[in-house]
Amino acid sequence: MPEATRIITANGGLRAVQIDAPAARGLIYLHGAHVASWIPAGADRDVLWLSEKSHWAAGKPIRGGVPVCFPWFGPRKDDPAAPAHGFARLKEWSLESTELLPEGAARVTLLLQSDDDTRRSWPHDFTLRMHASFGKVLELRLELTNTGSTPLTAEEALHTYFAVADARALTIRGLAGARYIDKVDGLKEKTQDDVIRITAETDRVYTNTTSEVIIEDPPAPGATGRHIHIGKTGSADTVVWNPWIAKAKAMADFGDDEWPGMLCVETCNVMANALRLTPGQFASMTARVSIHPSA
Ligand code: BG6
Repeated sequence: MPEATRIITANGGLRAVQIDAPAARGLIYLHGAHVASWIPAGADRDVLWLSEKSHWAAGKPIRGGVPVCFPWFGPRKDDPAAPAHGFARLKEWSLESTELLPEGAARVTLLLQSDDDTRRSWPHDFTLRMHASFGKVLELRLELTNTGSTPLTAEEALHTYFAVADARALTIRGLAGARYIDKVDGLKEKTQDDVIRITAETDRVYTNTTSEVIIEDPPAPGATGRHIHIGKTGSADTVVWNPWIAKAKAMADFGDDEWPGMLCVETCNVMANALRLTPGQFASMTARVSIHPSA
């Protein structure tokens, strides 16, 4: 294993790979293949947000970073008792490899495979790989293969939580004209007229959108501003989420006053755009994040 990566025991005694490469520092838990930190060289703070109230335990999701949602997104339609956002973020993945890339980045590859436990809640055979490259760009590639003998349908999301100076002051560009499903207004379908601003609880699935999204986060007292660019391939949907006041209070693993410091812009394939894979078929989805000084 190159020196830029090492396995550590991190929060809650959970195993993680710590990255200390020339181009970035970072942390990815084997629990959920969960990226918890990414600080590209030169950045003054983490690009990813983590709640101070997060659980750190096997079987519980981490609040913040990049949860991997799979094989369903949100509550399971036919089984409300099933874990929200699927089981991938609750299971320990296996570490396949780590490598140092030429441009000073480090890549970590983790694997989740179907087993008796996953088949009990979702009767399909699969392999799911996460290739996470920590460099000037954070590149997360999620690869799903249907290893079974029947077709499968799966939803997936890279549920990235970004650390922002103030969610109430930022502008989200790249989704003007897109249709979205408004989860805080009875799943009504609407059209985004211009940029997005966060002025209340926001929970939207932007459908059939492949464009780059830019979070323009101006400086706030105590935090420098920056632009966060989120590019993607193999993803048909983008979710934008901020819980605002009441929902933040209602979540045990989310501090009451933490919501202004975060924003989720998620790279996904959900609802009508769920993946449909025939036996042997493979699908790959990539999110590419970079930061730029605000003008
Ligand atoms: C978002 C969903 O992606 O995740 C929201 O659109 C949900 O509806 C949020 O509340 C957080 O989900 P969870 O299961 O991590 O609390």
